[in-house]
Amino acid sequence: METFENVYQYPFSVIDGKPFEQKGRWNEECFGNSNPIILELGCGKGEYTVGLAKRYPDTNFIGVDIKGARIYTGAKQALEEKLGNVAFLRTNIEIIDRFFAENEVQEIWLTFSDPQMKNPRKRLSSTYFLKRYKRFLIDRGTIHLKTDSNLLFTYTSALVQQNNLPVLLQTNDLYNRNAELPADKLDLYTREILNIRTYYENQWIERGLNIKYIKFALPHDISLHEPDVEIEIDDYRSFKRPKRSGLSTSK
Ligand SMILES: C[S@@+](CC[C@H](N)C(=O)[O-])C[C@H]1O[C@@H](n2cnc3c(N)ncnc32)[C@H](O)[C@@H]1O
Repeated sequence: METFENVYQYPFSVIDGKPFEQKGRWNEECFGNSNPIILELGCGKGEYTVGLAKRYPDTNFIGVDIKGARIYTGAKQALEEKLGNVAFLRTNIEIIDRFFAENEVQEIWLTFSDPQMKNPRKRLSSTYFLKRYKRFLIDRGTIHLKTDSNLLFTYTSALVQQNNLPVLLQTNDLYNRNAELPADKLDLYTREILNIRTYYENQWIERGLNIKYIKFALPHDISLHEPDVEIEIDDYRSFKRPKRSGLSTSK
């Protein structure tokens, strides 16, 4: 990946104590245009980053993950398909606000993020992370969360409700025709986007799990509080291995 022009590798050991010089200058220095920027956080192989970039050539997409071997797949595909509106950043999302300036990002996608059953602060939709996203997301910027995890979906929905964040769309069974809001009832644009299926998503679908989706806005003038709800942990995640935490619920 060292030779890939669309990959920026800044693990904590590299960025520690130094300012990131491209902060606030992604469009000028990386994309050479002034188009909106959308991030996919915890992008893995980057299916959303690449899939969205192909559909929306006038928007710039950056996939972020700490695991280089996963990013490699998406970065290679983007280079092979000559997608000039794609980049990947390898870093820890805990320090994501070091890489983007105020109002530099239009939207964020969280695709099949780890539910972090024992540690709510580490969930990519926790107030710890939302406070950091607010520093570079436009006012009322959109956050999309697509997940198999009942715990992560319930937690995020409760957080959104408790903080009065505007909900733009929400369904707990996206691909089921009998659900309250199934994919085929959505407008064409949303349906097209939500049909991009990631590596992890395909595995959960094969196991018969329903896919949940919530899209909400993050206003700047809001002080965020963690939700106070007890949620059942996702039992199926300990499939074929013993439950490590021994817990049956989590905050
Ligand atoms: C379950 S995988 C999902 C990957 C991909 N979005 C998909 O749906 O196939 C979660 C990804 O988030 C990344 N991740 C989790 N926490 C992270 C963090 N704090 N910083 C960077 N990457 C993180 C992991 O490395 C992993 O690739």
